Amino acid sequence: MCGIVGYTGPKEAYPIVITGLKRLEYRGYDSTGVALLNGGLKVYKKKGRVADLEAAVLGENLHAHTGIGHTRWATHGEPSDVNAHPHLSASGKLAMIHNGIIENYAQLKKELSNKGYVFKSETDTEVLLNFIEDIRENNQCDLEEAVRVALKRVTGAYVILLVDQDQPDTIIAARKGSPLVIGVGKGEHFLGSDASPMLEYTKEVVYVNDYELAIVKPNELILKNLGNEKLTPFVTKLDMELAAIEKGGYDHFMLKEIFEQPLTIHDCLRGRLDANAGTITMSGVANNIEHFKNAGRIIIVACGTSWHAGLVAEYIIEELCRIPVEVEYASEFRYRNPVINKGDIIFAISQSGETADTLVAIERAKEQGAIIFGIVNVVGSSIARISDGGAYTHAGPEIGVASTKAFTGQLAVLTMVALKIAKEKGRISDERYQQLLVELEAVPEKVAAILKNAPAIKAIAEKYKGATDALFLGRGYNFPIALEGALKLKEISYIHAEGYPAAEMKHGPIALVDENLPVVFVATKDAYHEKIVSNIQEIKARKGQVIAIITEEDDLIPALANEVFYVPPADEIIAPMLSCIPLQLLSYYMGVARGVDVDKPRNLAKSVTVE
Ligand code: F6R
Repeated sequence: MCGIVGYTGPKEAYPIVITGLKRLEYRGYDSTGVALLNGGLKVYKKKGRVADLEAAVLGENLHAHTGIGHTRWATHGEPSDVNAHPHLSASGKLAMIHNGIIENYAQLKKELSNKGYVFKSETDTEVLLNFIEDIRENNQCDLEEAVRVALKRVTGAYVILLVDQDQPDTIIAARKGSPLVIGVGKGEHFLGSDASPMLEYTKEVVYVNDYELAIVKPNELILKNLGNEKLTPFVTKLDMELAAIEKGGYDHFMLKEIFEQPLTIHDCLRGRLDANAGTITMSGVANNIEHFKNAGRIIIVACGTSWHAGLVAEYIIEELCRIPVEVEYASEFRYRNPVINKGDIIFAISQSGETADTLVAIERAKEQGAIIFGIVNVVGSSIARISDGGAYTHAGPEIGVASTKAFTGQLAVLTMVALKIAKEKGRISDERYQQLLVELEAVPEKVAAILKNAPAIKAIAEKYKGATDALFLGRGYNFPIALEGALKLKEISYIHAEGYPAAEMKHGPIALVDENLPVVFVATKDAYHEKIVSNIQEIKARKGQVIAIITEEDDLIPALANEVFYVPPADEIIAPMLSCIPLQLLSYYMGVARGVDVDKPRNLAKSVTVE
């Protein structure tokens, strides 16, 4: 949540900062601001998108070689010009941007108010900034020392970028719990919540760790811990091209990302799955294979769409590996007192690798001796780094706020992991193993075939775009897909939607069914097919509008449903990777038809780095 950018070097800072903010807008987009050091300290900020700020500063002298910028997802204080970052300190000499939450800000604010400080905004950020300034003045120390002292008193999560009008070529940065990347150029440095703002300038980056502080100048990067000890910055080479973060001719990132899935799933399988040789190569699993073979239990922690991938994995792992699986909301897991036994393995599933609840949940589990296996999309992210082993989903940057290609990547990874463990444990017959490898290899092609029929889903979306509510029902492996379909629809189209196991619907939700209610059945051919056909009949008997996602050879459901959309036949373990695609398209087209900004739906942010 919140995107931060910084630049110091010989180039003009403003265009770099503003372009970087546009790339980070997926992280929050309710207000924007920049601070520029050009002889003095100038701050421009505005409620709204980056484009609104750009319009507001037209004609201003924006010349500067050092600057910081922020795109906000509000936590403390409503979106407004005054609550937008950067904030200025009481003296007007310091400006700061912040991503995260200062949990003890009320206490600090009280202390500062007693000393006579008056706050312009409602933010925790302005409190922290004045706290730093107060320490600098009272302790008569330099800014770096004041930041260190202040951060030792702070509880919560933060990335801060701080500039001082008296040090016009310096940015002070620090992190705990929120991401910070520093790009190393020739005589220049870039800072960002991720690497996207610096991609065209440098591929050399340093991922800053928790409790580290960086003093960044054009020709110098000093990294220290909060104990003032110098650290050696570890420079990593980025494996990402600019094209990966551009729309490439699509109207929205979400549509591009849906259509990229044949490629991203292929990339995820590439180098790992070899159906001809009958092998799955995953070093993250191989290195921990004894743990996996002897695991008493797998606990999956995740949020949102990643949690839905975890639910699918529960079905697959229990079926293939006969290891008990529990799937937990990370936000609940971290605050209760879960029983973690020796030999339990925790799977952390996360696109961003920065979700605060998931990160803290695995930190807690690690403290209790659990082994952490990360299934993460963003390379080098916090969850990836804290994990003992893992597998990247290799879906490339996902920028649309609604997760699509990362989800199918998670399913592909989890299926491979389950197959590998099942094979190593001798729990799966050679024949079934080989059949599933062949089916998995065919997924990209089948997804491409589904996407060719996108106009059919678009027509359905047009027809039902006026709905106020929708039900999504599925059984077995398709139950989590029903949950995912409902989540996608609500976040992208603002239509109220609920996902349920199809049979559970009789225990309450069926009361909602009338001739106006679209009921989406995820009803591909599997062991429960006849059961779900009965559920469709129950909805039809109550005049519900049935939209069914079915297998091409289905000869029962077309006669019952109002609308059908076909997906290619697949084993029930593989089917979720196919049946989710039409639901992604349905939510996308409904959102567009209803005029929603689908890449940036209201109130949401891509990476939830606050709890
Ligand atoms: C929904 C969506 C969210 C995320 C959730 C977890 O489309 O994108 O529900 O899945 O915020 O995020 P990650 O996977 O980054 O941990």
